[in-house]
Amino acid sequence: MPAQAFPEGFSWGTATAAHQVDGGTWNNDWWAWEHNPSSPCVEPSGDAIDHWSRWPEDLKLLADLGFGAYRFSLEWSRIEPEEGEFSSAALDHYKAMCAGCRELGMEPVVTFHHFTSPRWVAAEGGWANPATAARFARFCARAASELGDLMGRACTINEPNVVAFFGYRGGVFPPGERSSERRHQANHVFIEGHRRAVDAIRAAAPGVPVGLTLSMTDYQALEGGEAQLEHLREPMEDVFLHATEGDDFLGVQVYTRMLVGPDGPAAYPPGARTTLMGYEFYPEALEACLRRAWAVTGGAVPLLVTENGIGTADDAERIEYVERALQGVLRGLADGLDIRGYTYWSAFDNFEWAFGYRPTFGLVAVDRSTFVRTPKPSASWLGEIATRNAL
Ligand code: BGC
Repeated sequence: MPAQAFPEGFSWGTATAAHQVDGGTWNNDWWAWEHNPSSPCVEPSGDAIDHWSRWPEDLKLLADLGFGAYRFSLEWSRIEPEEGEFSSAALDHYKAMCAGCRELGMEPVVTFHHFTSPRWVAAEGGWANPATAARFARFCARAASELGDLMGRACTINEPNVVAFFGYRGGVFPPGERSSERRHQANHVFIEGHRRAVDAIRAAAPGVPVGLTLSMTDYQALEGGEAQLEHLREPMEDVFLHATEGDDFLGVQVYTRMLVGPDGPAAYPPGARTTLMGYEFYPEALEACLRRAWAVTGGAVPLLVTENGIGTADDAERIEYVERALQGVLRGLADGLDIRGYTYWSAFDNFEWAFGYRPTFGLVAVDRSTFVRTPKPSASWLGEIATRNAL
């Protein structure tokens, strides 16, 4: 076995999320937010990359590149456009996508909530309303009973920590609030929603592994910054890590690090390389976060990298980033961490939320007027690694 090999059965995938790729998802809170003049959004999502109708060619492209898994999300507002009103056509669409993955030899990794909520949920108080947890679980039960074991893995909620923070404290995501009390309330409702969703999905689709996907950052204390670091990290990560007890896996999603001084987040070192997102190029963050997730959960929950990647216009930089991140995954595996797979974010250049279409994370470029897909060199590079199961 070559030294740079990954364990047998290690999963290699790419990821997208409905609102970022499908186009026309007008019935959710993000579409409304993009068109709200007081939001920081730079442009609307519009047609996105029309993945809603072009998914068959997209799946084929990813399978041909060598990937064995595809992570995508269900758009709640399409499946349940008004409370209690379910769309068979939308459910059929996702069933066909799962079956399409299977036919191509890719495991469908299905996310039930990726940042967007139906307008009717938002109108009822969104994730600050405790009733949302049960409504979300009802949606999960319905969707999971349709998709059943066509799903390879199920992710309940994508980065609830990010939605709670940016939506209720930072004012950058809908509903654009700036209250730390409301942020803590949203954390609480998300955790309740996750627990109920795990039960609902397990009951409706027995045997399909279920887990949470969490945004993690490599927090590093500068001199005297230890207390601040704990203060920032606890509500952002630890409360959610503790909520994964008994889950089948934990999805770890990492992009960068954060330096913390005695007064809070500190500037990056002078001359630090940054990405199109404005944060530091720091691929070693993945290894640090995997180790921390493993330590905090006591090694009781298998880990899966459900997102890692870089927004850059320089594809050689993408390869450098992923290669360094994967070296970290190998070091973690060598130390006994149970890491089940690596998923690159994102399969395609897509709608990067408030930043619009400028930050390009994709392995595949998309011309947004013709919708023509063009794989970048990093796509075949990572696809080969996936095929060899070795760096
Ligand atoms: C999210 C994605 C996003 C990516 C890159 C993650 O926080 O799950 O939706 O596009 O990071 O910023």
